[in-house]
Amino acid sequence: MLPNKKAIGIIKKYMNLAINNNFFEEDFNEFGKKLVRELIDKNLLVKTGDGTYTLKAEDEEELMHSKIGALKEAVEKFAIPSNIKSRKNPKVLDLCSGFGYNAVAALHFNKDAEIDMVELCREVLFLSLCLNIPFKEHEIIKNSIKNFFMGEETKNLKIRVFNEDARKVIKRLDKKYDIVFHDAFSPQRDPILYTVDFLKEIYKKMNNNGVLISYSSSIPFRSGLVEAGFVISEGPSVGRKRGATIAYKNPSFEVGRISEIDERVIALSTVGIPYRDVHLNAIKEEIIKNREVEREEFKRTLISLGKYYSTKRIKKGNIDNEFLKIQKMDLNSSEVIKKMRKLLLNRNEILKQTLMQKNIY
Ligand SMILES: C[S@@+](CC[C@H](N)C(=O)[O-])C[C@H]1O[C@@H](n2cnc3c(N)ncnc32)[C@H](O)[C@@H]1O
Repeated sequence: MLPNKKAIGIIKKYMNLAINNNFFEEDFNEFGKKLVRELIDKNLLVKTGDGTYTLKAEDEEELMHSKIGALKEAVEKFAIPSNIKSRKNPKVLDLCSGFGYNAVAALHFNKDAEIDMVELCREVLFLSLCLNIPFKEHEIIKNSIKNFFMGEETKNLKIRVFNEDARKVIKRLDKKYDIVFHDAFSPQRDPILYTVDFLKEIYKKMNNNGVLISYSSSIPFRSGLVEAGFVISEGPSVGRKRGATIAYKNPSFEVGRISEIDERVIALSTVGIPYRDVHLNAIKEEIIKNREVEREEFKRTLISLGKYYSTKRIKKGNIDNEFLKIQKMDLNSSEVIKKMRKLLLNRNEILKQTLMQKNIY
């Protein structure tokens, strides 16, 4: 999903003028302010709680950032939980980099950070040049974005800009990352960057001590992270009811658990079926539909095994005690989920069931 169509149309007009006129050299500030004013007047660019701005999404119900504050979210939900401050020369992959709030916050906490920004929408990148994010590091990000627009080589730069679908760019990236900011629009509206297959590609590009952060706590997303090999834990809940997600590649320390209810729902309920996109090129409608089909199949299998529980029962913990015992073990959430799933889908039982159906057993 992209930002609001009307907004993109307006930005495009200004963007083409600026590019054709070499960014007006001295006068760009006034030009940028004019664009910002027009978007605010048309109620497309919206002020958030900390005074920084966000844009409406294609689906106007959704904004690009939290209402509580776009920069506040970047600092409290992404930069601080990533522990970027105490990492040495961290390499950051900023997926869905948008205006660059997360990149600005990353540099603010660690000036040595190397950042690869990946953003599909050129107009969003351009608008960043016209905004004033109140951290001086925004100037560094603006310079890189401007270099990108001027067609200058960014290959050896500390901050690189990739204006492409993240699913295409991910395989080509030549670095291993310590931190991944995953900041796509919500999986309910657009799951293309929340699939197991895309998450597996991210996993391959991360260092062993790497961490991925997303504001989303969606069950199929967390389930996809577990299937891709991550150890999942709960992040801060800035401006939302549920916490963000912090996922580690191979943590060398004890990782906090997500809630026991979420562990059970991911492992045992059809809600825990993740999104899939094997060739990394499906459209969102296809990904959503395929997941629905897989949920139905999973439900049928569980019913035939006599192991189907409604999500309500799973949430209440009104299930076989063997599952609850796993949750009392000294394990991280990903281990708990995998163990519960294994118990649920005991291979021998499934084989027995299949043979019985074929009248062989
Ligand atoms: C929630 S906003 C991210 C905000 C951003 N992190 C910031 O600091 O301003 C989501 C962004 O993802 C971009 N996007 C959507 N689909 C994408 C894709 N397939 N690959 C890369 N970026 C994408 C949108 O254009 C939008 O700018």
